[in-house]
Amino acid sequence: MSGGCPYAHGETTGIGTGDATGDRGTGNQYVDYARMDTLHTIQHPRTDSPFEMSFILISQVKELLFRMVHLEVDQARQRLAEDRPEAACRALGRAVRSQRVLVDAWESMNALPVDEFLEFRSILGEASGTQSFMYRLLEFTLGNRGTAMVRSADLAAFPELAAELARPALYDEVLRHLARTGLPVPEPLLDRDPAVPYTPDEGVEKVWEAVYRDPDGHRPVYELAEQLLEVAYQFSRWRATHLLVVERMLGAKRGSGGSDGASWLRQINEHRFFPELWTMRSVL
Ligand code: HEM
Repeated sequence: MSGGCPYAHGETTGIGTGDATGDRGTGNQYVDYARMDTLHTIQHPRTDSPFEMSFILISQVKELLFRMVHLEVDQARQRLAEDRPEAACRALGRAVRSQRVLVDAWESMNALPVDEFLEFRSILGEASGTQSFMYRLLEFTLGNRGTAMVRSADLAAFPELAAELARPALYDEVLRHLARTGLPVPEPLLDRDPAVPYTPDEGVEKVWEAVYRDPDGHRPVYELAEQLLEVAYQFSRWRATHLLVVERMLGAKRGSGGSDGASWLRQINEHRFFPELWTMRSVL
């Protein structure tokens, strides 16, 4: 059978067979395919609070969604390296859908009353979202590469972070692609050291301005710019909503990661991915 639910029949190779993939083989194809039994063994609340279980679950959901967004952003980067802007746009469009789910997921977190949160907050110790390597990998891949915000221990523990810093970020590939289409991207940006944080550039702002002044003359690049802006917009929306949740839960208290909490996050909120796409609007 084709086109139906992938769990409906055992046609996908390896499902439910307890084979070399490490599949336990419960005989339940839904469970075995995506290891749902294992999935439900990795929540370990340290208190009896049902809210703590919800907190862990929603945190895990968000981690998986960071990964889904990363998957698509990485695809977009590869398609741009091949000068396939339409395919890159489709990948970015898929990323945006998952980003919207990420923003909406804050709704579940907001069901947690502050007094219930404070019941278990202390057991978090110094655990903080700043230590999420998947979030950091996503930021690095998009182009926010300030390593000051990453603990050196995490760079050592998660080799994919260091490996990512050695690769051009999505925005680097965007600029290279623009140059190959004949747009005058300043030369030094085309082979810059990818590990060095990106500094906004007036020449790039002028390139985007030219594209937006003549969309029909630059249709594929214009569409790419619109998708990039949407990715950046959704990322900033996630950060802004996180800040609201933090104000709701902590007020002006310090964060478990040691920051000033909301006031620190307010500064982070100022950051914009693909900065010239934002500043260009002032000169249009
Ligand atoms: C009650 C819920 C939450 C509170 C009160 C909270 C609080 C904070 C605070 C105060 C910070 C600043 C760093 C620090 O000192 O710890 C932070 C950072 C962060 N949080 Fe949360 N958080 C909550 C839920 C979440 C969830 C569910 C996620 C996603 C899994 C998350 C992801 C992050 C990330 C990625 C950062 C780092 C931001 C950056 O470095 O740009 N937070 N959080």
